[in-house]
Formats: sequence, C-alpha cells, structure tokens
Amino acid sequence: MGTFVKVASLSDLAPGTSRMVEAEGKEVALYNVDGKIFASTNICPHQGGPLAEGVLEGTTIVCPWHAWAFDLTSGTSPVNPRLKIETYAVKVENDGIYVNVSKDLGS
Ligand code: FES
Repeated sequence: MGTFVKVASLSDLAPGTSRMVEAEGKEVALYNVDGKIFASTNICPHQGGPLAEGVLEGTTIVCPWHAWAFDLTSGTSPVNPRLKIETYAVKVENDGIYVNVSKDLGS
C-alpha cells in the first residue's frame, strides 16, 4: 500500500527542471515536464549517478555522468528495454507535490 508524502512545493519546481528530494528514506528525483510532474529514484543503475542533476529531453532523463537515458513514463531505457529505473506515483494538491515511493509504477 504505502502512502503519499509531501516532498516539495510546485512553486519550487519550475517547468523543465528537476531536483532531488527524500521520501521515506529514499532519494527521489522530481521532474517537471511542461507542468506534468514525474518522480523516480535519484540513483542511476549504471554507477549511481544523480538523475535529478541530469538533462531532461521531453519525458526522458539523461544521466549527468555517462548519459544513460530513461523514459519517465515507463522507467525504461529507450536503448535497452531491460534497463529500468523505479518510477513512483505523483499527485499534486494545491501547491504541494506528493509521491508514493512504496510501489514501483513500472513493476
Ligand atoms: S552513472 Fe548514470 S550513466 Fe553512468
């Protein structure tokens, strides 16, 4: 089950930007793609690079360390579908961004 926890304010995450937050002991990367919010693990499965410091290209996040890419709508790599990151449910209420990190949406 798990619950949604507030991790940030919408006003702190401008469109086209990302940032790292913590939720229930996990490092979570939040992304604002043209006003739609996505959340994933912050930890790249390659060598642990900080995905929140990567480059957003549409709904794809490109890791800042060695440019592995992941589609935030599915968590999978466009290059190798077997490569995957955890993605989390997000909801926005008023100005608050809430995530539920207990369930990987893509699993
Ligand atoms: S650590 Fe992310 S691509 Fe290498």
